[in-house]
Amino acid sequence: MMRKPIIAGNWKMNKGMKEAEELASGIVEGLQGEEEREVVLCPPFTALQRIGEICLDSPILLGAQNLFYEAKGAYTGEISASQLVDLGCRYVIVGHSERRQYFGETDQVINKKLRAAISAGLFPILCVGEKEEEREAGKEKEIVGHQLREGLRGISEEEAKDIVIAYEPVWAIGTGKTALPSDAQGMHLFIRELLREIYNSRLAQDTRIQYGGSVKPDNIDELMAEPDIDGALVGGASLEVDSFIRIVKLRTPL
Ligand code: PGA
Repeated sequence: MMRKPIIAGNWKMNKGMKEAEELASGIVEGLQGEEEREVVLCPPFTALQRIGEICLDSPILLGAQNLFYEAKGAYTGEISASQLVDLGCRYVIVGHSERRQYFGETDQVINKKLRAAISAGLFPILCVGEKEEEREAGKEKEIVGHQLREGLRGISEEEAKDIVIAYEPVWAIGTGKTALPSDAQGMHLFIRELLREIYNSRLAQDTRIQYGGSVKPDNIDELMAEPDIDGALVGGASLEVDSFIRIVKLRTPL
């Protein structure tokens, strides 16, 4: 199976309703008929419904930035997988480094969230990535391998088919420091090999692995030229219509 590149915009905690509408409308207009890349917008929860409406008759898909793993009940402030499905979400980001860092999400919590997403029919984008000091200590593979194994624990091959992996080195997120394409490629290959070990070659070959961390219009082409980089999870550069469109319409031929 050919891996269709997937570009997702993670808006994080940005954009009021009017700004969100403008951004989504501009993107929908600029990407009419886009077929070569799968494009996902992940606005804050508050804008999901409205952005879902704006994307309705377009190829652009809706994603959420987080979910809670319980189906329903007394969990003040939380949002379930089925509530996201109700709003038209197809994707959900799980285990973003900001969730791990500021909200104490562990690999065990992330594993539960992955399962909840999959059983509700959402496609999870599972984020993994090492911190700067871990890379300096030469531990990036150990850390990412651990996050992946624990995150995927007990998840069957059938369920794992729906997962997109995002490799996001924490030191590259929001810092303007992008990983060298060759270093990112090395990590993507490592992740693919691990998927082969946990599951099998077919699943490893078919799984899309996005790179994330200061992806911009001027570095997307060289990143996407690497054989195991299948797309990008974009934060800052997804907040402007032109830069996001440029990232989606990269020059590298398929
Ligand atoms: P950035 O964020 O593109 O602003 O570095 C990426 C992410 O956190 O997903």
